[in-house]
Amino acid sequence: MAQTATSKQAGTAALSFNGKAANLPVLSGSLGPACVDVRKLQNELGLFTFDPSYGSTASCESSITYIDGDEGVLLHRGYPIEQLAEHSSFLEVAYLLLNGELPSTAALENFTNGITRHTMLHEQIRRFWDGFRRDAHPMAMLCSVVGAMSAFYPDSIDIHDERQREISAYRLIAKMPTITAWAYKYNVGQPFMYPRNDLSYAENFLYMFHAVPAEDYKPNPVLTKAMERIFILHADHEQNASTSTVRLSGSTGANPFACIAAGIASLWGPAHGGANEAVLKMLSEIGHKDNIPDFIKQVKDKESNVKLMGFGHRVYKNYDPRAKIIREAAHSVFNVTGTNPLLDIALELERIALSDEYFVSRKLYPNVDFYSGLIYEAMGFPTSMFTVLFALARTAGWIAQWQEMLLDKEQKIARPRQIFTGHATRAYVPVDKRK
Ligand code: ACO
Repeated sequence: MAQTATSKQAGTAALSFNGKAANLPVLSGSLGPACVDVRKLQNELGLFTFDPSYGSTASCESSITYIDGDEGVLLHRGYPIEQLAEHSSFLEVAYLLLNGELPSTAALENFTNGITRHTMLHEQIRRFWDGFRRDAHPMAMLCSVVGAMSAFYPDSIDIHDERQREISAYRLIAKMPTITAWAYKYNVGQPFMYPRNDLSYAENFLYMFHAVPAEDYKPNPVLTKAMERIFILHADHEQNASTSTVRLSGSTGANPFACIAAGIASLWGPAHGGANEAVLKMLSEIGHKDNIPDFIKQVKDKESNVKLMGFGHRVYKNYDPRAKIIREAAHSVFNVTGTNPLLDIALELERIALSDEYFVSRKLYPNVDFYSGLIYEAMGFPTSMFTVLFALARTAGWIAQWQEMLLDKEQKIARPRQIFTGHATRAYVPVDKRK
């Protein structure tokens, strides 16, 4: 498995406080801004740093994914996302994330076979579904079943054994489509479809999701290609909330199934994985292209609290490169499924927003979620499944990041500090003496 690249010292930054001075190393990686190494700050100046939400803090060195938010660049192991989406399969990208290099033909075949051999779930896990309510949210089912996998595969939870880590990675990547499809089947009351190892990763997922035992089902090649691309676009995105959750959980030595379950829980929040659902709702509410100018007026009115969903990003201050690719994929999907009037509204909304001073001056561009919900809906996925699809694909990135963290000698149990603002020491008051 790939090793973490090491940063180099690019200089020092002087900091003084209370008459004492410290020269802190400034570290730079291969790309991106340099970082002040504050690890000695407490010893030298008796200070911690304060950075709620970690907006200015690098928590690790990583050689997996690089984002340049100003330029709209996303690289996995140096390869631009546009090239991977065009030429790769999802499993090839998963291999790249995990191993650091694109595979040879033989290595890819080996990896694909390895994943394919692990697509079935332990039959006892199937019984879990009997315990869920029929209307259980699929993210709740995904989170529980993935967490429970640690009870079923005890032979692969020794995190210090490289081979066991590899088998866990295979198991997680291979079984996510099965769990995801079964969560849906349970919701709609259809029989679970077992994986078919003669199909590709994306094809097998579409088969388990859409097929029923009563008739033949052949996944459409255009939709399969779109699914593959969507999985690639969501495979990793550097140190976002869910990935940081996986790393934080893993820093305690927890097993990989527990760590990925923690990542799934974090992804569930609407500020992270749930925005594409909000885009669809917004487009439906706008209802017609003629209503767009009024809608834009509301977005600009601070009192209204209305946002143009699918626009803006914490890191990208340019067009999200994934949004461009997914926009193209939307057209190919609609050629097969028939046009959706919401796509026309989305295109017009995008055209207007990209030339409107409000959005231009704030560097608000479409993000990956602006088009993904439309594609999912056209492909027959209910909105409750949108975040689950995200989790399925992101599992590859989560495991790669988890492994990188384990192999990084600088990493130990993660433990942020705080600025305490509560009471200083005070004496206990017996209950009958309290006011
Ligand atoms: N619509 C209208 N105005 C917006 C939007 C938007 N979508 N996003 C930001 N703004 C405005 C803000 O009101 C603010 O204006 P002001 O300077 O006049 O006060 C300015 O742009 C900067 O906004 P911030 O909130 O500081 O931007 P930030 O980078 O912190 O927010 C976020 C990023 C949360 C994604 C935001 O753009 C947003 O809410 N977008 C809509 C939700 C969405 O699409 N989320 C998906 C993100 S992608 C993903 O998670 C996979």
